[in-house]
Amino acid sequence: MRIYLDHNATAPLGLEVREAMLPFLGPPANPSSAHREGARARSALETARAEVAALVGAAPAEIVFTSGATEANNLALRGTAAGLGIVTTAIEHASVLETARAVGARLTVVPVDREGRVDAGQVVAACDAATRLVSVGLANGEVGSLAPVAAITAGLRGNGVLVHSDAAQAAGRLPLDVAALGVDLLSLSAHKLGGPAGIGALWVRRGVELAAQTTGGSQERGRRAGTENVAAIVGFGVAAARARAELAANAAAAARLVERLWTGLRTHVPGVVLNGPADGPRLPNTLNVSFPGAAGESLLVLLDLAGVAVSLGSACAAGAAEPSHVLLAMGRDRDAARSGVRFSVGPSTTAGDIDRVLELLPALVAQARGEAAA
Ligand SMILES: Cc1ncc(COP(=O)(O)O)c(C=O)c1O
Repeated sequence: MRIYLDHNATAPLGLEVREAMLPFLGPPANPSSAHREGARARSALETARAEVAALVGAAPAEIVFTSGATEANNLALRGTAAGLGIVTTAIEHASVLETARAVGARLTVVPVDREGRVDAGQVVAACDAATRLVSVGLANGEVGSLAPVAAITAGLRGNGVLVHSDAAQAAGRLPLDVAALGVDLLSLSAHKLGGPAGIGALWVRRGVELAAQTTGGSQERGRRAGTENVAAIVGFGVAAARARAELAANAAAAARLVERLWTGLRTHVPGVVLNGPADGPRLPNTLNVSFPGAAGESLLVLLDLAGVAVSLGSACAAGAAEPSHVLLAMGRDRDAARSGVRFSVGPSTTAGDIDRVLELLPALVAQARGEAAA
């Protein structure tokens, strides 16, 4: 049996999710059609929209389905701030950072501290009269730090700056409420919380002007043209409902497993270094560590051969052997930024999985250190 500790890259599709999707993977299901088949698809689409909205405390009409958080981030930035001033942080997902670089007329990238924490005051201070949009991710999927988004929106209230947050890693793992956060736009992804890949959403506060980036149809209230992927959206809805119902229990279980792993690592693997916040609020399911002298890539391969799936950081950077931009932003040198190994657990992870990893790791780290020394 393989042990899957890479839920931040993608989580396994929930069984209920799969069951709910199957009836929409066959019969015609175009929600824009006027006939009975169209009405069935429309009704399923709106049920899912209500579930996704409920996950973040929003109104269903404010949800725009997209192909994932990457597209939601693109839509948020390109749709509100093309050619205008953007403020973001150095540890954002590439779909925010690269898009901000591409479309922002003036871009300010706010640094983070050594534990990957964003300072709200620094973000607010980085805004000036030319700033149209601030984009700060709620939870960093590589190291698990949480950004003080509510403090940022409070600091900016009344000055006309829009605030967007990428919540792809936070949704289903932390309670989310758009009103409490005070944001204007929020990105979501289904496959991080047990839904299918290729579907996500952008929540857009009522009244926020958003320029559609995909045109040629009136779907999603004219904000994203194209026939909806109803099966995927239905899956997203069921995954969102489940994540909401099980949020507290899942978060508590994940935090216990991560604590078990971190305590075990400190006991059994000499020299292990934590990458991420040592205390205070953090993503409950994520632990990023380095084993100085052992290349992250070697460990990933050794763990994989031993039946354990982990990641070097963001999946998008994996395989590229590039140092993690998040660890670089946290002040690590290029070697240290290549040595981070991310463990991310999910509802299917057991204490037995963690114990097995703790059994395997001391020898694998020693082996990776030997390879590095050879
Ligand atoms: C913070 C964050 N934003 C966006 C994405 C991209 O999401 P999607 O795969 O739905 O496009 C990811 C996935 O790795 C992520 O971790």
